[in-house]
Amino acid sequence: MAKETVLITGITGYIGFKVLYIALSQGYRVRGVVRKEEQISKITSHPLMEGLTSGVEFVVIPELGKSGAFDPVLDGISAIIHLASPLAKETDDYSRDIVQPPLDMESSLLESALNAPSVRRVVITSSAVTLIPLSWLASSDVDTVFTSRDLNTDTAPPYHNAMEAYWASKALARKHVHEFLSQKKPHFDIIQLLPSVVIGPDDWATDLESFFVGTRAMIMPIVQGKVMEAPLVGVPVFVDDVALAHVDAIKPSVSGNKDYILSSDTPDGIEWNSTLDVARKHFPREVESGLLQCTGSLPTRRWKLDASDSEKAFGWKFTSFENTMRKQLQQYITLVKDSEASI
Ligand SMILES: NC(=O)c1ccc[n+]([C@@H]2O[C@H](COP(=O)([O-])OP(=O)(O)OC[C@H]3O[C@@H](n4cnc5c(N)ncnc54)[C@H](OP(=O)(O)O)[C@@H]3O)[C@@H](O)[C@H]2O)c1
Repeated sequence: MAKETVLITGITGYIGFKVLYIALSQGYRVRGVVRKEEQISKITSHPLMEGLTSGVEFVVIPELGKSGAFDPVLDGISAIIHLASPLAKETDDYSRDIVQPPLDMESSLLESALNAPSVRRVVITSSAVTLIPLSWLASSDVDTVFTSRDLNTDTAPPYHNAMEAYWASKALARKHVHEFLSQKKPHFDIIQLLPSVVIGPDDWATDLESFFVGTRAMIMPIVQGKVMEAPLVGVPVFVDDVALAHVDAIKPSVSGNKDYILSSDTPDGIEWNSTLDVARKHFPREVESGLLQCTGSLPTRRWKLDASDSEKAFGWKFTSFENTMRKQLQQYITLVKDSEASI
């Protein structure tokens, strides 16, 4: 039987490209949404797409948040996976550039889906940051175990920095979906996925410059011997697991109208400094040669999460931090060696 056609946004991104790859590998037909025409060749020329491009068609939507933007592209679509979201970047207007766009995108997508009878499920990438107010990080609470029923309601402006705005934007977007479900009672159901700190090899990282971006720029300097002051929550998740969860979430076997936390090593989480133990155990030669330096440190803010519902629903276990970090370190080592070879 021919598989369903799935519409996916955010396919030029770190997680979204892996979602595209897994969906195509599993035989789904994909309608991929990009914002610019030139992004199509960037995607189709990626080595991972070899042999898979016949399964994907592209649609260009320059402004995903414009009302009616999705109206012409949902014909025959059974499921939608919506990952597109702006970065937590510095700007002179956090509400306009970080908080509002995800809400506008959700509205335009969900309103269009109301007019598309073929759509039976929408999967939306939320975040574990929606479980707690940003201010909780400065509290002394290390014992509460947060579940997918928790939702941060401390989202009012003003936003003093990009992180505050991102934190609020993800919580407001998640709440917006709950309200949409109760008010509109759509013919489709919705799953929101709540990844914690996503790590693991990035298919778009081709050199050290493109490697040290986003969360990796916060974590990976530890193996360059850097001592970092600002703590990071000790809740990692492997990017391949996050991507697989997005594709599995369109399957009817996973219950809809639910939110699922995506995080490994739960409930206790990990210590970021254990990255150095992973380096010593799996890459002793690189540690010996100094390519991996074990003198750095990154403080951990402990945060307990319960992802047992997710493991039960998806029927698989999250990859351990040790295995995820081993793969992340392998990508770093390869890029360092490539950069040395090209000098
Ligand atoms: N990475 C993490 O640790 C993490 C953790 C929890 C949740 N998440 C969530 O996971 C999703 C994907 O994250 P990612 O790490 O893969 O991010 P990413 O690499 O920055 O990719 C973001 C994607 O969103 C698109 N996008 C950005 N701004 C947009 C806008 N204003 N309108 C439409 N599309 C826009 C980008 O398209 P262009 O190429 O056209 O800019 C890109 O495809 C996001 O919803 C993010 O909040 C990520």
